[in-house]
Amino acid sequence: CLCHCRRGVYECACRSDEESGGEIDWDNLGFGLTPTDYMYVMRCSLEDGVFSRGELSRYGNIELSPSSGVINYGQGLFEGLKAYRAANQQGSYMLFRPEENARRMQHGAERMCMPSPSVEQFVHAVKQTVLANRRWVPPQGKGALYIRPLLIGSGPILGLAPAPEYTFLIYAAPVGTYFKEGLAPINLVVEDSIHRAMPGGTGGVKTITNYAPVLKAQMDAKSRGFTDVLYLDAVHKTYLEEASSCNLFIVKDGVVATPATVGTILPGITRKSIIELARDRGYQVEERLVSIDDLVGADEVFCTGTAVVVAPVSSVTYHGQRYEFRTGHDTLSQTLHTTLTSIQMGLAEDKKGWTVAI
Ligand code: COI
Repeated sequence: CLCHCRRGVYECACRSDEESGGEIDWDNLGFGLTPTDYMYVMRCSLEDGVFSRGELSRYGNIELSPSSGVINYGQGLFEGLKAYRAANQQGSYMLFRPEENARRMQHGAERMCMPSPSVEQFVHAVKQTVLANRRWVPPQGKGALYIRPLLIGSGPILGLAPAPEYTFLIYAAPVGTYFKEGLAPINLVVEDSIHRAMPGGTGGVKTITNYAPVLKAQMDAKSRGFTDVLYLDAVHKTYLEEASSCNLFIVKDGVVATPATVGTILPGITRKSIIELARDRGYQVEERLVSIDDLVGADEVFCTGTAVVVAPVSSVTYHGQRYEFRTGHDTLSQTLHTTLTSIQMGLAEDKKGWTVAI
């Protein structure tokens, strides 16, 4: 069997493409965790600095020392990417720019003093994880298999220092839309007392420690009926950075702008792709500081991310004042959403070589 689980091919969950993921309701996938069959694990000591051959194992709990670097000091990174069921003949499943995730993890690992898998190891592991869990890839048009690579300091350490051992792990879950609004426009609120990142910090890498600190702002916003939060820069409290889980774009008089990735902004792969697709369509795209004034004066606002894809923003509330933006069929965000997802699913020709068929 594909995953070397030593079960007979008929007992192993990776055996059949045709068998769907149990009793899952494909029409109502949100972004909840549906456990799948297999995860991929690979380990490395700090001394070696090189990951040894990884392997698939049954998805389940992992054992960690209470004194592991990740639990005690937050030495960890994560990634996110999606596999779609392919619409064309290239292969059965489509990945989108997985080597970009690998490189971003390497960059983050350098910042967090961790060894990281090579690009080849990373992409190979992603492919293995998708194939082993292929019965969980949603049918065309229903969603995607979300793939979550983790790199953690798993070895024990008491004094503050890099952990002596590292674990690279990938698990996957079928997902639909990220926000409860589905594909409908979202409503954001600008937060000016809690910041996501600061200059010299880790906002520009996908460390696990960037996420729990915004939960308070996010929960507060949700309790007030907002979808998510937009964070301001920590120095001037004037420039927009990003939302809790996605990058920000504004459109004004046909010109697109997004906060430049100057260290506090997560360099999103969807962000980068959307910039390129918008430029291909003839739009001027500026990567620069985006102020509150720019935002409230915009015609259109949208967010991008792997989980979020391209989410139109219908309103942003700042200091109690609600500002509204264009949404709907003839918007740039809608066009870009269609263009991007058509490439990702193999519905449109991939002229850029972004997709990887498996
Ligand atoms: C993603 O879009 O893949 C992310 O990593 C965001 C996460 C908070 C769901």
